[in-house]
Amino acid sequence: MANLTVRKASFQFPDELDDIFPGDDIEAECYLAAFSLTMPVLEPYLIRTYRSLAEQITDPELARDVQHFIQQEAQHHKNHARVNAVIHERLGPEVAAELKALEDRLDRDYRRYNATRSHRFNALYAEGFEAMTCAMAVSMMERAAAGEGFRRFGAWQQLWAWHAAEEIEHRTVAFGVYEHLHGGYLRRVWGSMRAQVHFGLCVARLERVLLAANGRPAKLRLPSWWKDGRRRFLATYHWRYDPSAIEAPALVDMVLANMPTNPT
Ligand SMILES: [Fe+2]
Ligand SMILES: [Fe+2]
Repeated sequence: MANLTVRKASFQFPDELDDIFPGDDIEAECYLAAFSLTMPVLEPYLIRTYRSLAEQITDPELARDVQHFIQQEAQHHKNHARVNAVIHERLGPEVAAELKALEDRLDRDYRRYNATRSHRFNALYAEGFEAMTCAMAVSMMERAAAGEGFRRFGAWQQLWAWHAAEEIEHRTVAFGVYEHLHGGYLRRVWGSMRAQVHFGLCVARLERVLLAANGRPAKLRLPSWWKDGRRRFLATYHWRYDPSAIEAPALVDMVLANMPTNPT
């Protein structure tokens, strides 16, 4: 059992983009902003997926974890939607329209997946995404503990710290659901890769728009978490991969204890 706590966050996002695009590392900043833009589409897809699977989950502890997972993800995307609105607003109507078109395209894909693809397909997509974000989140925490990564800690950075900490906290849920309902190693690897490529291409398209909006060439590079996180990410493809064996960095508890949140 994951022992998840559902926290309601209350970040005070400024109207300016100084925290989001400070210009210290514009490629990394655009990657993170692009990732944020997908959250109000991706996380509702995860929620719809797990609601559709809930009746099949016969393990009461896992069923409870899934309910808490849904509640955590709902809080995440609501907060991302708030800051995403500032990004859209500040980058102007033309850029906002380009971003919105890409977000809508992803949303159409996910709604089609829920409507036409199997429960197994969607459980696999969710697991592929969650395995990747856990590796990314652990890498972010380790970089932060080593004094790397964010150079400021405004509401934008707090949002990511909170989100990353809860992604690590609920790291076992998607894997647990897949193993409980379906299982199968090769299928998991294939389904995870397919999800990660699909999602990654959408982030890359958004990133190109954001780079151009910041006056930079739309040249993509590997995300900054990849340097330290690729070993963890590639470990998710191992046949013995089990997210419950991943030790949460000490920073997770510290972040969750100090965020501007109230337990529900
Ligand atoms: Fe999330
Ligand atoms: Fe998650």
